[in-house]
Amino acid sequence: MTALAREFAPRLIDWQRRAGRHGLPWQGTRDPYRVWLSEVMLQQTQVTTVLAYYARFLDRFPDVAALAAAPADEVMALWSGLGYYSRARNLHRCAQVVVSQHGGQFPRSAAALQALPGIGASTAAAIAAFCFGERVSILDGNVRRVLARVLAIEGDVADTATQRELAAHAQALLPPTPSSDDMSAYTQGLMDLGATVCTRSKPRCDVCPMNHLCEGLRTGAPERFPVKARKAVRRFERWWLLLMVQGDAVWLQRRPERGIWAGLYSPPVFDTQAALHEAVGNGAGALQAWEPVAHSLTHRELQLLPHRLATEPSHTPEMPGQWVALPAALALGLPAPVRTLLQSLQQP
Ligand code: ADE
Repeated sequence: MTALAREFAPRLIDWQRRAGRHGLPWQGTRDPYRVWLSEVMLQQTQVTTVLAYYARFLDRFPDVAALAAAPADEVMALWSGLGYYSRARNLHRCAQVVVSQHGGQFPRSAAALQALPGIGASTAAAIAAFCFGERVSILDGNVRRVLARVLAIEGDVADTATQRELAAHAQALLPPTPSSDDMSAYTQGLMDLGATVCTRSKPRCDVCPMNHLCEGLRTGAPERFPVKARKAVRRFERWWLLLMVQGDAVWLQRRPERGIWAGLYSPPVFDTQAALHEAVGNGAGALQAWEPVAHSLTHRELQLLPHRLATEPSHTPEMPGQWVALPAALALGLPAPVRTLLQSLQQP
């Protein structure tokens, strides 16, 4: 057995108890509903952002039955601003499956949890480890980074072979016979180490409990790991947004179920100025161009070009959508930049 295999788990558990994060609202509970909700929110979002959303969400939906029974639009509205909206749709669907197929109780193993909508391998492992003390490893982006560094893994982390290698290491490094409390501390320790010490840039190796074991540090360039051979390129797109207003109402469409802003409400979107002008016909002269808004998504760099158009009372545009009074519109599931635009419509 290598020094790493022997020392990694006990050192991590000890470090988490001394120096890890404590007192976050989803810690200190074994309620799988609360842990699941936090894990889904934290998948692509920082702790500081999640805190307020988490509290509001639990306030409105205190348990899985309340969430399952809620209208989809209300769930989307409470998610609005967190991004990656498929998470919210899956969250709602998952709550309904837990109620209809599992009698309102989350399954108690990572394998069974993973069969639920929106719960991937790492989230399932986190819930099983935190709530049921299962000896199973999480493997999200932060943990992949920690392991790729401590083991100086040279393969491209995007490759399936490397991911398989990392998964095998994650399993091998687990504490051999953990108590439930050990599994919580170990799992939280992996997350905390990745988030607070073994960070993407400028890792704080001087305070890391693994520094004497870390092969990546031994190479002199720990930041080189995880190795990423291919760079993701974001595609640039311009979107013309038609902010049609009539009194205090705005014309909104529901976005298609697939693609960017899926299922959210948005003003009509056009991919050229000509298409926008054609859609509004002789209203084109009255279009008022607002400042462009830059909006980055995982695979796209959007430039939003909002154009306001005041319409006559009782005019009904010849395009899909409906008039929605602004206060009601702001209660819908909206993409974050659309919310900001609608808020500025509200000001005189
Ligand atoms: N990111 C994902 N899960 C987390 C957790 N339980 N605590 C802090 N950050 C996290």
